Amino acid sequence: MGFCPQCRTDGALVEAAVERKSTASRPRASRVVPVGATGTEETARRPVGIGEVDRVLGGGLVPGAAILLGGEPGVGKSTLLLQVAESIAVTGGKVLLASAEESLDQIGLRARRLGITSSGVLLTAERDVDKVVATAAEVAPDLLIVDSVQAVEASEVGGSAGGVAQVRETAARLIHSAKETGIPVVLIGHVTKDGGIAGPKLLEHAVDVVLYLEGDLDHGLRVLRGLKNRFGPTHQVGLFEMGEGGMRPVTDPAGLLATEHRGAVPGSVVFPAVDGRRPLLVEVQALVAATSNPQPRRSVKGLEAARVHQVLAVLERHAGLSFGDQDVYVSVVGGLRLRDPGADLPVAVALASSLLDRAVGSVAAWGEVGLTGEIRPVVGGDHRAAEAARLGLEVAVGPRGNGHDRIDRVLGELGLMRRPVRIK
Ligand code: TYD
Ligand code: MG
Repeated sequence: MGFCPQCRTDGALVEAAVERKSTASRPRASRVVPVGATGTEETARRPVGIGEVDRVLGGGLVPGAAILLGGEPGVGKSTLLLQVAESIAVTGGKVLLASAEESLDQIGLRARRLGITSSGVLLTAERDVDKVVATAAEVAPDLLIVDSVQAVEASEVGGSAGGVAQVRETAARLIHSAKETGIPVVLIGHVTKDGGIAGPKLLEHAVDVVLYLEGDLDHGLRVLRGLKNRFGPTHQVGLFEMGEGGMRPVTDPAGLLATEHRGAVPGSVVFPAVDGRRPLLVEVQALVAATSNPQPRRSVKGLEAARVHQVLAVLERHAGLSFGDQDVYVSVVGGLRLRDPGADLPVAVALASSLLDRAVGSVAAWGEVGLTGEIRPVVGGDHRAAEAARLGLEVAVGPRGNGHDRIDRVLGELGLMRRPVRIK
């Protein structure tokens, strides 16, 4: 160029030859092993001792595992993990809880409320991630809990705590230390709707296990969901009820998810949902109310709104039921959020039942409703029928064959058609 493009001085540039790397300094090849020779060591798992947590973890904690626990603020993450710490401590283990969010007194207050006094539960209030790592190395606990990954800071990294750069770096250091020391670590991560702080999504690929704690904050029910697990099955769920004494495991959710009068009043039907691999009997409710509003309301809670809209259209078209001048409310009792496609049929039954003001009685229904009015089978049919029978429901309405069952036939059988239909 003849001159420096920055300071414009002539003749300031000097040519320097860059040495080519010689072939001798090429990296050496990595070790390769046949697939059959790997994974022979059975990984030792340490059960947490709370059945609903162990189920989602796939049996317990694996040495060096990095676990992310995400959830909305206030859903109960700190409470649950304090209980996990206690459960490990009462079986002779040691757990270090590093809190960057709350003072020792605040955690102590919560612990006292939960009746947690074990000497194996160790607390430290620390924001500096390197100090957390150093403390864990010295204390050598069976589990390290970091509350939360958005509140700890890596000192020499720029940006404020909770920002993308900080969260990436603090998580990376904690995960690295878990791998090095073999101490499993749980990182608590807040999920926020406004996106002001970097969310757990950012870390999902970096950790071994991703868990989310969900629940409607107006209700007591909490669902611990496994989204990823490098050491075990995913899509497992654990159920809890948040109460005065903390998170109480719910081993038999039947009573929790249905009202006393399920099926006995119009607009109510029982749905044996399958969440993870677990049958959950829930009550689906619908309220259909006449309106003069040219744009009737469609309100859906606990289910996918788009699916409910589709079921409404199918009922209009294939069952002769009209909702055009009706407000429609559909919800799942108990504040549970369902992603089960089998909810279509119970939604259809509850809607028809409310519209016609006819109760269906002791009925459990499940099945996916297709656009042409056919009812398609969904996974876990046998499980669903068994769960319905176990809880004493008299009629179980599920898809009979491979899409040959129809919505009008099922509604007709339940007495939910305007005109009587002939049933084969
Ligand atoms: P917390 O575990 O602090 O939530 P997170 O860590 O996910 O932000 O729980 C907060 C809420 O739980 C708070 O509103 C109070 C309630 N809670 C109970 O209902 N029962 C209890 O025993 C405890 C400790 C908390
Ligand atoms: Mg908390």
